[in-house]
Amino acid sequence: MSDSTLDLLEKHHRDGPEFAKYMLMSGQKRFDASFWAAWKQWIIPVLGNPAVIADFGCGPAALLKLLKAFHPQAKLIGVEFAPYMLEHIDPKMFQVIAHDLHLPNLPLEDNSVDVIVSTHTLHELNQPVRLLESVHRCLKVGGRAMLIDWVRVPLPKYLEIQNETNVLEKDEAGLEDVFVHFMEHNRYAREDIDWLLKQLGFNILESVTLEKPQFARWVVEKVA
Ligand SMILES: C[S@@+](CC[C@H](N)C(=O)[O-])C[C@H]1O[C@@H](n2cnc3c(N)ncnc32)[C@H](O)[C@@H]1O
Repeated sequence: MSDSTLDLLEKHHRDGPEFAKYMLMSGQKRFDASFWAAWKQWIIPVLGNPAVIADFGCGPAALLKLLKAFHPQAKLIGVEFAPYMLEHIDPKMFQVIAHDLHLPNLPLEDNSVDVIVSTHTLHELNQPVRLLESVHRCLKVGGRAMLIDWVRVPLPKYLEIQNETNVLEKDEAGLEDVFVHFMEHNRYAREDIDWLLKQLGFNILESVTLEKPQFARWVVEKVA
């Protein structure tokens, strides 16, 4: 799986090192006031002392760095697989786990983490089941996960969001790029992820479409 995951990510990210820089640069904007309001409402009440927080598919650690400022005493763990993302993560600040989340054997102990966050990552995997199973296994009972990801919107809305105004004028490579990304970003309806989360035994505390309707957020709790 791992070599094919790197091929898959190369296609997702187009230019990986540039995409890593974009993820870092856009962190403040993407993790905005509404993100921190949800964090305060759902996450802070279940943090231990010291808190243990993991970010699955953490990219170049944009969110981990913000969390370090917000929770300086917390143990922060980043799980990531793309080499051009991993090279941005400082192992002196964070525990770094290089792992393909398609696979079940994530080296993190059962019932060891207060909170797991995974943002804009589920849609990049061929299948999200092992990642969600790892979330369930690694969370403490009563621990919570916050997931944010792309959800389906109709093609015209998607093209508008991506500023793709002249799609019919593209050459074959351009068309393939637009439609490959449309399929990636339109992989799940919010209800698809609700269903999976329930099948895996999570209690869903929140499942909402965000102000930008191409994104949704789920907050779930491990009950047993
Ligand atoms: C769109 S980026 C989001 C990064 C970060 N969560 C953020 O919001 O800033 C998705 C991240 O998930 C990682 N990812 C995708 N598939 C993965 C897999 N199978 N195993 C581990 N990480 C993966 C990618 O390499 C990438 O860094």
